[in-house]
Amino acid sequence: MTAKGAQVNLLSPEGGLFSGGFGQTFEADDMAGNRATVDEADVARFEALGEDWWAEHGSMRPLHRLNPVRIAYIRDHICQHFPEGDTVRPRDAKRPNPLAGLSLLDIGCGGGILAEPLARLGADVTGIDPAPGNIQIAQAHADETGTSLTYRAVTAEDLLAEGARFDIVTAMEVVEHVTDVNAFVKTCAGLVKPNGLLFMATLNRTLKSFALAIVGAEYVLRWVPKGTHQWEKFITPQELEDAMAAGGVDLFDTAGVVYNPLRNKWSQSRDLDVNYMCVGRRV
Ligand SMILES: C[S@@+](CC[C@H](N)C(=O)[O-])C[C@H]1O[C@@H](n2cnc3c(N)ncnc32)[C@H](O)[C@@H]1O
Repeated sequence: MTAKGAQVNLLSPEGGLFSGGFGQTFEADDMAGNRATVDEADVARFEALGEDWWAEHGSMRPLHRLNPVRIAYIRDHICQHFPEGDTVRPRDAKRPNPLAGLSLLDIGCGGGILAEPLARLGADVTGIDPAPGNIQIAQAHADETGTSLTYRAVTAEDLLAEGARFDIVTAMEVVEHVTDVNAFVKTCAGLVKPNGLLFMATLNRTLKSFALAIVGAEYVLRWVPKGTHQWEKFITPQELEDAMAAGGVDLFDTAGVVYNPLRNKWSQSRDLDVNYMCVGRRV
């Protein structure tokens, strides 16, 4: 694993040449690795975003707008779960670096929209993505903002095989893009240390999500490019809970996230019909 704040790690002992989507050729470590849950065409669409990952009004706008809600959710649950130093008191979420001393893996980090702010909350963050082009964008942005974290172009499956384990694992807006949800969630669960936390966020498979997340967001409002999501790949909260349980993770909270068009704002809600997030504890 690279040192904190070091260069993008795209090189493995095996090492293979990868021609990135930005006119650069660089070494990638996982091209021959385990990409069993990677939908290559879907990941290629994300990789083609390039600089658009960080354009607040570009095609990743929904993720930028969602960020404050999901960061608060993740931060507050971590602060409740992991006590302050040697005490039994919860951490103070409002103090600087509330996540200090905790290792956090962000799976499917894309351009780093979530990983970077979590690193700024003090966690020792590793962001991974199967698309080397995404990792390149994420690292360039972290360099620009002076944020210290580690990025690697590897799959979760490869990291699990390396024996890496983390206090906290996040996979936000990723499960609806993989080829095998159960296998992917089990891998994510395996990367969490005992008593650690696994956070996931995704889209529920309901008629309302078809109307809002596919028809509304892709065809009417054009928030995201057409074809970003396939409704059949959306996952119900029960399916996600069952998949986590199969990996030894006990889901203990689920929260909806809803959009208020009048305030142009996302907020946490009890409504799980479309977007939702959840957290479980590795037993
Ligand atoms: C909608 S984006 C979410 C990015 C980031 N998690 C966020 O919320 O800001 C989905 C990301 O998942 C990644 N991805 C897709 N399949 C994956 C897999 N099997 N394992 C890990 N990452 C995957 C894609 O490359 C892409 O960066």
